Amino acid sequence: MIRKKKPILAIDGPAGAGKSTVAKLLAQTLGYLYIDTGAMYRAITLKSMRAGVDLTDQAAVEAIARQARLSFVPGEVGTIIMDGQDVSQAIRTPEVTRNVSAYVASYSGVRKVMVAGQRQMGAQGGVVMEGRDITSVVFPDAGIKVYLDADLEERAQRRFDELKGQGQEQPFEELLADLKQRDVEDLHRPGGALQCVADALVVNSTGLTIEQVVAAIVKAVREKEVSCQ
Ligand code: DC
Repeated sequence: MIRKKKPILAIDGPAGAGKSTVAKLLAQTLGYLYIDTGAMYRAITLKSMRAGVDLTDQAAVEAIARQARLSFVPGEVGTIIMDGQDVSQAIRTPEVTRNVSAYVASYSGVRKVMVAGQRQMGAQGGVVMEGRDITSVVFPDAGIKVYLDADLEERAQRRFDELKGQGQEQPFEELLADLKQRDVEDLHRPGGALQCVADALVVNSTGLTIEQVVAAIVKAVREKEVSCQ
């Protein structure tokens, strides 16, 4: 019997490029599982902070990564479960954001554990996985590889508007500086650094609506769905 094997859809790009918004919509549109790998690094950061671990102690943070049980819930886009608890909100604090980028995501031992988990989660296909090293390290052979970019100013403006909408205004210049710093950390991480692989579909979302970005990627997926026995 011929059946369609659903591909892996891998999306990388800098912070604030709209990866999670686009990935969530794609997962809903295609009926795929959404895997937010940044949320996994954030969860390990949260668990380490809660355990009172010194975040500069790589071995201790790696041990936490090995103990943590992480999963995503099919049909509940954006929910991450750690050790049986929904931590989707708790991983979004400014403190977690600072610590994940400065420490946890740069530790090779932690990355090894995360990459292994991500490969397991995506092994059957039918996933939309987004992060920084998905197209380069986790699934370099993914059926669809997307590099989602947007200009720095536009990324900062989007974050500004998003926060404003939540009643948490933050100075634009501060957001711009923060994104610039995160770009430097993402691009120069010793392992799993953000890069645009040669065969990625490059989408610069500056000036595009979410719907336009999603439509361009869905078209590429439909064209690439593969047949297998
Ligand atoms: O996408 P995000 O802001 O939630 O990611 C949180 C942090 O984790 C950020 O510092 C980048 C890092 N990250 C990574 O190193 N590799 C990934 N695959 C995903 C995120």
